[in-house]
Amino acid sequence: MRILFGLLTLFSLVLAQAGPQIYQQNCVFCHGENGQGRVGAFPPLAAHTTELVKTPEGRAHLINSLLFGMQGPIRARGNNYNGVMPAFGQLTDEQIATVLNHILNAWGNDRLLPREHRPISAAEVASARNVSPRPTPQQVGNNRARINVP
Ligand code: HEC
Repeated sequence: MRILFGLLTLFSLVLAQAGPQIYQQNCVFCHGENGQGRVGAFPPLAAHTTELVKTPEGRAHLINSLLFGMQGPIRARGNNYNGVMPAFGQLTDEQIATVLNHILNAWGNDRLLPREHRPISAAEVASARNVSPRPTPQQVGNNRARINVP
């Protein structure tokens, strides 16, 4: 019994650390230690993904940007960007959901989430992944450009 509890504790610790770890390994060089991005080059994730998720299309866009990448002009927190976000389709559905939930909660974002927000699930990522044909990074960028965020 004690071993079982030990394993459960270990498992939940591993899960809790997974988000920051996936972020450090895949995202930090561009989006920064504090999700601040770099003005003109890499959009911020702090106080920004929370704005996206408030829009009707924002949740799907967050998932698609990771699965398929994105490219094209966008505005984020008052600045213009026109870069290339690489696709992270090589990550599992679980990993994509985990890192998205991390960036939606880190850096004080948890306090900016709408009350009705629910964590992104691996099942949502799986159904977005299985669309055919898959959107190109340009299409993800075009759809994003139509979402109005500050
Ligand atoms: C090589 C640099 C780079 C890496 C690595 C990178 N991104 Fe991005 N990301 C970008 C750029 C550039 C954009 C904006 C693309 C554009 O201008 O269309 C972007 C856009 C995004 C967006 C959408 C923002 C919006 O307003 O539509 C999200 C969410 C995001 N990145 C999250 C992540 C996460 C999570 C990771 C790690 C798994 C990651 N990025 C890794 C460069 C990067």
